Amino acid sequence: MAITRVESLVYGVNDLAAGINYYQDWGLEILEKNSKGAIFATPVGQTIYLLDKNDSSLPSAPSDNKSTVRKTVWGVDSEEELEKISVELSRDRKIILSEGNSFYTRDESGFPIGFCLSQPIQVDIAPPEVNTNENSKRLNKVISHISQAKPFRIGHVVYFIPKEQSDTAVSFYIDRLGFRLSDRTIGRGDFMRCPQSRDHHNLFLLQRSGSAEFNHAAFEVKDFDEIMMGGEYMKKHGWMAATNPGRHILGSNLYWYFSNPSGGNTEYFADMDCMDDNWKPRIWDKNPGFSLWSIDTLTNN
Ligand SMILES: [Fe+2]
Repeated sequence: MAITRVESLVYGVNDLAAGINYYQDWGLEILEKNSKGAIFATPVGQTIYLLDKNDSSLPSAPSDNKSTVRKTVWGVDSEEELEKISVELSRDRKIILSEGNSFYTRDESGFPIGFCLSQPIQVDIAPPEVNTNENSKRLNKVISHISQAKPFRIGHVVYFIPKEQSDTAVSFYIDRLGFRLSDRTIGRGDFMRCPQSRDHHNLFLLQRSGSAEFNHAAFEVKDFDEIMMGGEYMKKHGWMAATNPGRHILGSNLYWYFSNPSGGNTEYFADMDCMDDNWKPRIWDKNPGFSLWSIDTLTNN
């Protein structure tokens, strides 16, 4: 199966105006706004739908229908692969057709998941220029201030899943959809990447005692400066940071999380570990921890 990335996120929200303001401040381009909601896009062509939580087109969330993601759509690289996934999943679950050959169903935790032909847009993101000793990538140039982050893609999504169902929840993605395991922490969660992705994770199933629930969506920006300047912009506009900024241990990505009025958190991230099929999944008996380091900004403001 050739799933390549998160293609769309569809939120059902309580307060559309707040949801729209939040994603505009987050730095995404708004494609459309009407009485039903709004559509945002990333530069690489992924879409985010904000709809009223009572919109009849929305599938129900696995627990309750407060503001949250009501469908995650995975992009697939060909019509043939899309058909293969449909045939595979229709063996034991109901498939609901939507536009074109796209369709959705539910995973083992009850999350609505869709599949469609991916529509990637190629963008050229210049890597950060760093001066190290005599290796001066930024010779005669200075760091410039940006007023707002401009995330270029959705990198991953994270769900809470009930601890006791984690084996079946994870094996659905690995055995049925071809996801690769990158890191597993026993009793805590599984980081997985799409079969055609080099990201350490595009999906993290985070175990807890309780019901299944959307946790966060992560957006890649260029570098640490963009995380920090983008996060400061969010704070200045009244949005609440959900964590301090820091660097994760598993995945190694730099991060800063904010609380999204449309449901869960959003994360700015940069510089995540990349791997291919030569990577040997690591199995951790004990949680190695959340961060290598973090900056204590929450208590200083
Ligand atoms: Fe994340």
